Amino acid sequence: MWKQARWEEPLIHEIGDTRTNGFLISKEDVPDVASNVKSRAFKRTVVNMPGLHEIEVVRHFIRLSQMNFGVDNGIMPLGSCTMKYNPKAEVIGQELVETFHPSQDPSTVQGILETLYELQTIFEELTGMDRCSLAVPAGSSGELAGVLMIKKLNIDNGINKDEILVADTAHGTNPASASMAGFKVIYVKSNEEGLLDLNILKNIVSDKTAGLMLTNPNTLGLFEQNILEISKVVHEKGGKLYYDGANLNGILGIVRPGDMGFDIVHLNLHKTFAVPHGGGGPGAAAVCAKNELTDYLPSPVLIKQDNRILIKEPEKTIGKMSSYFGNVGNLVRAYVYLLGLGGEGVRSVAIMSTLATNYLITKLKGVEGLTLFPNNSRIRKHEVVFSAKNAKDSYGVSAEDIAKSILDYGIYAPTIYFPQLAEEAIMIEPTEGEPLYALELLAEALRKIMETARKEPEKIRMSPYNTSVRRIDNVYANKPTTITPTYRVLKRRERGENVTL
Ligand SMILES: Cc1ncc(COP(=O)(O)O)c(C=O)c1O
Repeated sequence: MWKQARWEEPLIHEIGDTRTNGFLISKEDVPDVASNVKSRAFKRTVVNMPGLHEIEVVRHFIRLSQMNFGVDNGIMPLGSCTMKYNPKAEVIGQELVETFHPSQDPSTVQGILETLYELQTIFEELTGMDRCSLAVPAGSSGELAGVLMIKKLNIDNGINKDEILVADTAHGTNPASASMAGFKVIYVKSNEEGLLDLNILKNIVSDKTAGLMLTNPNTLGLFEQNILEISKVVHEKGGKLYYDGANLNGILGIVRPGDMGFDIVHLNLHKTFAVPHGGGGPGAAAVCAKNELTDYLPSPVLIKQDNRILIKEPEKTIGKMSSYFGNVGNLVRAYVYLLGLGGEGVRSVAIMSTLATNYLITKLKGVEGLTLFPNNSRIRKHEVVFSAKNAKDSYGVSAEDIAKSILDYGIYAPTIYFPQLAEEAIMIEPTEGEPLYALELLAEALRKIMETARKEPEKIRMSPYNTSVRRIDNVYANKPTTITPTYRVLKRRERGENVTL
């Protein structure tokens, strides 16, 4: 069954050859000086590029794109990853910035600097923080910046704190960032309700606690109802509260991390603010802070003085997390998105994402084999986790089988096996942008899959049937013989074909 494909597209190296040329370059009419230069730069081996006609290149990539699935094809309910539809108008704004050079004198690019400054200010307002830096390329990079800021603040104040607390519902990048910054990571368990256990927190927090990293709503889609108490407990020990803002679409414009007691926040613009996500291009993020921590933000930040936008290096900055101002094209996308939404629209993001999640929960109520995790009636915000443990135990159909089967309905697979708290986890984030019929389709597909799983489990175990590639070997890409063009050519030679590298 593995690697069965309904059709297969060869690599471009396999279609091309060394004789074909897709275009003609006019003959050189300047002297060849490069060949006389004794620089190492000119001594590189010639790269063996495949030669193809333009029509072949276009058809190859169109065929590949048709074998693929994206949010423009249909719903992508990946929990935690927020694969929501990104409005196309934002791209126009993004394209406008391509004419600037980041080293241009600030006086000649006041327009774009003003745009970035305004975005910075909107984020400060939305998060309840004093200042933001937009020069961070991803959420995880914002996390690393945040914990490094806490570390530097403590060093400057002569305080020795070497522990970061992380909720057990946290995304894996939280402990990874804390550990990269040199902290010892300590997990705080959730209680049966799926919320951070306040009693356990009180027992773990100590003078060594530099901070607690938390996302609210958490990755179970639940809002931490004890957040003010949590903040008090951490602050009383001199720790800082770090907000993982990846789940901001669940509360956007309704509540602010700053008002919940958080000291630092990162925002993933490729989740909440209309920037493509997951292979769709470079990400973008922001990291924001309160009070004395603003002096430690990654450089640069923008300030407004006498109607001019100035580029400023924060006084005690941890340094740079990104070149220049971050991924400016994406920052402009986020800006256009926010202007399009306006104040009321921003609130509707949170309302609609919460409504979509809870509508889906209602539609899936009573479906045998899918159990809400944790199994309580709390309102979910932007996402929901189900456990397929019963389906696995009763008819041998796993979360992975269900995720594969859903592909046959023209729906992308939800996140599976995360968070690890839930056995056979299926994590769904319908997002605020999906029309009602898409939610109905998702619910109906899941109902049908679970019904088939009960009656004909083998059918689900063998799925998908209608995709360009069926089951793939999950670890193949991590094996040393990853498919490189060289590897493919060597394999073809082994089969006796006369191909050159
Ligand atoms: C809750 C949460 N935190 C942090 C991250 C990391 O963000 P990024 O992928 O931008 O590095 C993610 C990404 O999926 C996430 O879901």
